Amino acid sequence: MFKLKDFNFKNKKVLIRVDFNVPVDEKGNITDDSRIRKAIPTLQFLMKQKPEKIIIISHFGRPKGEYAPEYSMKPVCIRLEQLLKAKVHFQPTPKIMNIPSIDNEKIIMLENLRFDKAEEENKDDFSQKLASFADYFVFDAFGASHRAHASVSGVPKHIPSCPGLLMEKEVQFLRDNMQSPDKPFVAIIGGAKADKINVINALLQKVDALIIGGVLANTFLKIKGVNIGDSKFSEESLEYAKQVLQKYPNKIALPVDYIVGDSFSAQAKTKVAGEKDDISGWMIMDIGPYTISGYCNMLKKAKTVVWAGPIGVFEWEAFRRGTWDVARTLASLNITKIIGGGDSGEAIEKFGLAEKMTHVSTGGGASLELLAGHQLPGISALEENEKSFKGQIK
Ligand code: 3PG
Repeated sequence: MFKLKDFNFKNKKVLIRVDFNVPVDEKGNITDDSRIRKAIPTLQFLMKQKPEKIIIISHFGRPKGEYAPEYSMKPVCIRLEQLLKAKVHFQPTPKIMNIPSIDNEKIIMLENLRFDKAEEENKDDFSQKLASFADYFVFDAFGASHRAHASVSGVPKHIPSCPGLLMEKEVQFLRDNMQSPDKPFVAIIGGAKADKINVINALLQKVDALIIGGVLANTFLKIKGVNIGDSKFSEESLEYAKQVLQKYPNKIALPVDYIVGDSFSAQAKTKVAGEKDDISGWMIMDIGPYTISGYCNMLKKAKTVVWAGPIGVFEWEAFRRGTWDVARTLASLNITKIIGGGDSGEAIEKFGLAEKMTHVSTGGGASLELLAGHQLPGISALEENEKSFKGQIK
């Protein structure tokens, strides 16, 4: 694929796709702005080259193709202005297709791409409309590169395109440097989304051990016949989990004790329970002390660790211990430590341990898919783009 440094952006219009899908609290305040901060180097690089315009596009949340004020990019635009220390003009038209022409401003942010269902449906007229705003396209939305959406894999069909600096760095750490990781190689998968199960099979072929926490752990425990009470688990993943467990019985580490709560709340009554306890009416929300010590001992023997998804509900004090102890143990080790983005990235930032890690990715699902060896639409589109536009970028 082309490189950012191959292009001459002077007096050109540049469209840049970022992933500013940042976490927000119930009042809409941004709780972690890492994804915005990490896009700044690419934006500054472009600004220095004196392009005619920089047009910034992103999705934010899952508004399902309709305008919804809580998913407006406006607050994100304000935070970007603060971090970039430059005026960013906000273009508020909700439907991108209705923008007659791009305003005469230097740096412009458009509204949430997902206010039009054409984005997720990967409609070519939507990609073409976006491409029509610019001469060149810079793709820096690593966190969205596993989505075959119009602004990810569609735009590069139309104008010369390259990865941004963040994208280059993510691919280097998560794909290129992980071709032959130092062994023992241990992966940790946790979090609330059970859809991570899709990459487990591929990951198990690469790792020496897979540590499981979060909702996935409950799913595996249920398969083993353990009473998981009212814990969240993924019904549709049970059969897959069973097959994986049969195939790799010695590679998968599951909790043997846990912290359970009597409700899914920060104020829940808690207790420690084990596999033999009847926890009917309770929910598993973190791993227990034996499991913490077992998991941390495994990590101490590893040479490479990849971590995606918190171990427990770390946002609440009562269920933070598992995630905190795993994070602290990793921070103390002099090995390769890669943190997949999303909630585990947020946890590491919150704990102030990001500097102690080899790389903290901005991608949740994207980082896992890349680590598992899958082709990502955002990367493939850039590779194809170089073949189509060779000789046309100066
Ligand atoms: C993410 O947060 O993982 C990316 O921004 C992609 O968002 P999505 O899962 O809603 O497609």
